[in-house]
Amino acid sequence: ARKIIIDTDPGQDDAVAILLALASPEDMDVLGITCVAGNVPLELTQKNARIVCELARKTDVKVFAGCDRPMNRPLVTAEHVHGKTGLDGPVLPDPVMELTPGHAVDFIIETLREETPGTVTLCPLGPLTNIASAFEKAPDIVDRVQEVVLMGGGYFEGGNITPSAEFNIYVDPLAADIVFKSGIPIVVMPLDVTHKALVTKPRNDAFRKIGTHVGQAVADMTDFFERFDKEKYGSDGAPLHDPCVTAYLIKPDLFTGRHINVQIETQSELTMGATVADWWRVTDHAPNALFIGDVDADGFFALLTERLARL
Ligand code: BDR
Ligand code: CA
Repeated sequence: ARKIIIDTDPGQDDAVAILLALASPEDMDVLGITCVAGNVPLELTQKNARIVCELARKTDVKVFAGCDRPMNRPLVTAEHVHGKTGLDGPVLPDPVMELTPGHAVDFIIETLREETPGTVTLCPLGPLTNIASAFEKAPDIVDRVQEVVLMGGGYFEGGNITPSAEFNIYVDPLAADIVFKSGIPIVVMPLDVTHKALVTKPRNDAFRKIGTHVGQAVADMTDFFERFDKEKYGSDGAPLHDPCVTAYLIKPDLFTGRHINVQIETQSELTMGATVADWWRVTDHAPNALFIGDVDADGFFALLTERLARL
């Protein structure tokens, strides 16, 4: 199993990504879950991460609170998508399990220093503040990261928080810039692929039909989450962005993309946080990321449903 750190701002789709990881111990050893401000403030994201661990009955997972705001900008949140709590939809009890003491950034640094170099994968599902802060504070850890597999950005799909930027990158463009310039192998799940992973009615029914508490909760989460996309865009269902990251670690061949150069806009207010992806390789800038463009959506949902049924 690959050793991973999940960095997250739950978020219904973050929750499903975490559940998929916790259901898949043969593929992923979750060393810790580090929380960041994003969809909702840190106070709620760290609480939601613990709610999700308890839902999965994995109360021994380490959950850390991290940065409560982006590196050099005020926090932008997304209650309009995820609801007031960030995890609106199912009715879940307040968590009993405690946060693990210590700052998420220090956990990331210490873990990378302790583990064998090249054996820890970082899985960011929110703004990249914790990850970039760890790289800034301890540059020696950068070379020790095996891979970064993240959800963020969009190119042909444009943006979902501004016309040109996807939420996770827009919230902390400086942090994203640091990560994309780190030299670490990066796999990017942009909107171009996540907008193909839609929870249609039959897929939502399949979650509910699992017949477990987890299946029910996931169906309720995606029901809530999808109202936004359905009402606003008339789409067939909610895009399940973040689970693309953990599904990739189980079955990479569900996904296809290109090794290309990706740069982050950090200056222009108009296009702040844009992921400028050299998809057609019109520059000679070296590729720094595997930019995913397509997914076998049926295969993805089959995998997800099968794994969630284990919890
Ligand atoms: C990303 O932003 C958040 O709202 C979701 O959790 C996902 O990580 C999609 O743009
Ligand atoms: Ca997220």
